[in-house]
Amino acid sequence: MDATSPRPSNLNIENDSTELLQNFHLILDSIDEGIQVVDRSGVTVFYNRAAANLDNLKPEEVVGKHILEVFPSLCRETSTLLQVLKTGQPVSNREQTFMNYKGDTITTINSTLPVTVGGRLIGAVEVSRDITLIQEMAHRIVDLQMELFAKREGRRDIGSDRARYTFKDIIGESECILDLKRKAARAAGSMSAVLVHGETGTGKELFVQAIHNAGPRGKGPFIAQNCAAFPEGLLEGILFGTTKGGFTGACDRPGLFELADSGTMFLDEIDSMPSSLQAKLLRVLSEKRLRRVGDIKERIVDVRVVAAMTRLPEEAVSLGLLRNDLYYRLNVICLGIPPLRERRRDIPLLIKHFIDKFNSQLIMSVKGVSQEVFQIFFTYDWPGNVRELEHAIEGAMHMLDGDMILLEHLPDHIKKSVSRWEDTSHQFDDIIQGIELEGDFRETVRELENNLIRRAFAKAEGNISETARLLGIPRQTLQYRLKRLDMQPGNQ
Ligand SMILES: Nc1ncnc2c1ncn2[C@@H]1O[C@H](COP(=O)(O)OP(=O)(O)OP(=O)(O)O)[C@@H](O)[C@H]1O
Ligand SMILES: [Mg+2]
Repeated sequence: MDATSPRPSNLNIENDSTELLQNFHLILDSIDEGIQVVDRSGVTVFYNRAAANLDNLKPEEVVGKHILEVFPSLCRETSTLLQVLKTGQPVSNREQTFMNYKGDTITTINSTLPVTVGGRLIGAVEVSRDITLIQEMAHRIVDLQMELFAKREGRRDIGSDRARYTFKDIIGESECILDLKRKAARAAGSMSAVLVHGETGTGKELFVQAIHNAGPRGKGPFIAQNCAAFPEGLLEGILFGTTKGGFTGACDRPGLFELADSGTMFLDEIDSMPSSLQAKLLRVLSEKRLRRVGDIKERIVDVRVVAAMTRLPEEAVSLGLLRNDLYYRLNVICLGIPPLRERRRDIPLLIKHFIDKFNSQLIMSVKGVSQEVFQIFFTYDWPGNVRELEHAIEGAMHMLDGDMILLEHLPDHIKKSVSRWEDTSHQFDDIIQGIELEGDFRETVRELENNLIRRAFAKAEGNISETARLLGIPRQTLQYRLKRLDMQPGNQ
């Protein structure tokens, strides 16, 4: 039987359909989302337990009755179910704030779909998720920023307490990191928006904070918001503020942009921001004005925007996640932080930096890592980048009795990566004399790198692409290194 042929079924549609339907209802009753189904005339035919909990009603008080009979606060225009019955068009992720029968104010996010049979509209179904707690969190975020803001009034010197890092905290001697630091230092002095991208854990936030602190806005507020954390409507309120009456339950509240006035607004995961909000952001960037949700008044803001994402900006644009127009605006200064595996030269310095950091935090006196561990750290791919290295060292130091980090202290998934280079490990023994924290790292690393390149080059029989793949570095970087080593590619 091929994959497309129908599976044999023991189902007797006539006898089993009632039982099937009952099971189906049981399943729908056990999920956390509220589900309400209405027929063509707006009478509820199904209403699950979660929906009943949200509205503080019993299913029997709703089923068999028209929506407007049960929910008098709704009308034909505000009921999404009735709207979908009217237009036949789905409505997705619409936020709704209402007061239930217990008098609680509830915020839900709803998706409403038309139900059709043979192209004929026979009803509508609505799926609602309770986001009351998320909304409370959204308000709390703004409130906390306001409290901080109030404390800061008259004491501009504590304005940068949320941006802790400076360029000194960015460890690395690889050409790309030095180059990025130079570029970022120049960016700090300008007013243009900045876009930082790089894989997770590469140090994006570090760069963003350092840019803020090094610039003329360093004494002003630094406010960070992750754009993936909230649904569209809430994020809009958080960023741009709300006005009483803007939607039911809204109150007069400034948004983070207003609170970041004269400082920096850091928008993390910008490619998760819904497109319509990106358009509003673009307006703030170009006109330096914003309008709170539900307000008619425009407010002038003086905020520098720095955005970050893990995707390549061009990829985010082509996937439709980042608007073209916003991309051009943000991309004025663009910093792409390479993954750690493409700047292995930084690894020894980072090892030393994190051992020093945890030595003083944990009151320990760890001296370094064993040859074996250094070799693994140097050749491992680090999908979690610097953060993963930091955690590996922290984890190892928690398990340590002596003063050296040994293989047994590493997490299993890193230990397993040993096998890739195991067969060549003896080659390195002459080079790495145990990594002590003092000494000339640069020289050691250069020799190690050269040796790795020679080994991989020989293994790949002189094929550049294969050598680059084995080493996990870009072809271009490899070609540059080969030239430095005076090695000629055999075939490419
Ligand atoms: N060059 C570096 N020098 C010192 N520490 C670094 C460096 N890069 C990253 N780190 C450390 O690694 C951790 C992760 O850095 P950061 O939060 O800036 O990464 P990120 O790129 O913003 O990651 P994500 O995409 O997951 O948010 C932090 O603890 C940071 O201090
Ligand atoms: Mg980050």
